[in-house]
Amino acid sequence: MLVRARVLDTPDDPFTGGVDGTGLRSDEDAGLLVLDGVVAARGPFAQVRAAHPDAEVVDLRDGLLLPGFVDTHVHFPQVRVIGGLGMPLLEWLERCALPEEARLVDPSYAAGVAADFVSGLVQAGTTSALVFGAHFAPAVDLLFAEAAVAGLRVTAGLVVSDRLLREDLRTTPQTAYDEGLGLAQRWHGVDRARYAVTPRFSLSCGEPLMDACAALAREVDGAFVTSHVNENPAEVAAVAEACGTSYVESYDRHGLLDGPAVLAHDVHPTDDELALLAARGTAVAHCPTSNAALGSGLFPLAQHLAAGVGVALGSDVGAGTGFSLLKEGLQASFAQQLLGDAGHPLTPAHLLHLATTAGAAALRLPDVGHLGVGMRFDAQHLRPAAGSTLDVGLRHAASPDAALATVFALGTSADVRSVWVDGEQVLDRPAPASSGVD
Ligand code: GUN
Ligand code: ZN
Repeated sequence: MLVRARVLDTPDDPFTGGVDGTGLRSDEDAGLLVLDGVVAARGPFAQVRAAHPDAEVVDLRDGLLLPGFVDTHVHFPQVRVIGGLGMPLLEWLERCALPEEARLVDPSYAAGVAADFVSGLVQAGTTSALVFGAHFAPAVDLLFAEAAVAGLRVTAGLVVSDRLLREDLRTTPQTAYDEGLGLAQRWHGVDRARYAVTPRFSLSCGEPLMDACAALAREVDGAFVTSHVNENPAEVAAVAEACGTSYVESYDRHGLLDGPAVLAHDVHPTDDELALLAARGTAVAHCPTSNAALGSGLFPLAQHLAAGVGVALGSDVGAGTGFSLLKEGLQASFAQQLLGDAGHPLTPAHLLHLATTAGAAALRLPDVGHLGVGMRFDAQHLRPAAGSTLDVGLRHAASPDAALATVFALGTSADVRSVWVDGEQVLDRPAPASSGVD
């Protein structure tokens, strides 16, 4: 297929300069030849057309084509409890998240949640995700199965804990290892799926369980490790008390950061912890709506960048307030503004990078994140309802940067019309009714 579209993407890191010093690549009338799921040629449409006169043209000029989003932190069992506002982390876990997570012991309930969850991601234009699974292995099987049917590129695993949480969410080190290995054998490396060893957070995992997680990560070649870190001051203090180390060290001393790893939040790191994350190559999932909703704090992005720690966006559904990384990007910008002089101002190109190429780097997906030649065609077509404020804004945007800013300010999942993974269309939505309101 030959895709004709206005394309925005961020092949170069805007934090270090990038295209034209802005980091944003914008092609008004691009032609992208997609062969076997990969962008085989790209250039001005007329030029690519002339070279490939027989290719079937898919005309997406109405709207914008962006790379698919990469969500680096999102919880499968929490899709139905989004919106528990006004509580700090530990209270929210006890009152909102954990009672719902316990319901996933029932596979028929878990199957419904898996369908809701995967369709929420795809509708938001997300094509790759690092997913916190459930505490129950059959529910995690259902998640992988649903993601495979939908075509989503998913890295996920069994969530494990053996203390602090309610009894029905606890496991043992041996069961955690055995069930995790079984899941990894069934799913790791199968099509687009990969396995992530997932201790919930060090507060809920004793030392033998952490060792079992590390053993599993060593056993499964290429497995990810993911967890939470430095989210909330009361939690950080409790980890120091329970583990006797810094939060990052509570993972690192078990070898959990030796391979590919993503830790979510990191709102309250020390300089030593940032240096350790950088030394290990551990990426941080920045989850701005969750940080605001739970009052966790304002993310110290400048410190992460200065330390050389990779940062990408995560929705953190269900503490986060939805699947759209447009909303996360906007909230990331707000958080940096609210930090005043300590904040790192974010351009639209920074936001797109954080939602796409930075996520692909964190998830170590080298051919995902932008739409250059040789990359997988993981993409989303944004086309707002005619007459909506986003439609008006896009039609009047003075520059590509301004258009992208409008998308982050006003765009929602409802504006995502089509989504592709590996060139395969995984969402095809009819045009929304013209509304004029947001
Ligand atoms: N820390 C441990 N579990 C969770 C969770 O489900 N959400 C968030 N935001 N933080 C956590
Ligand atoms: Zn989380």
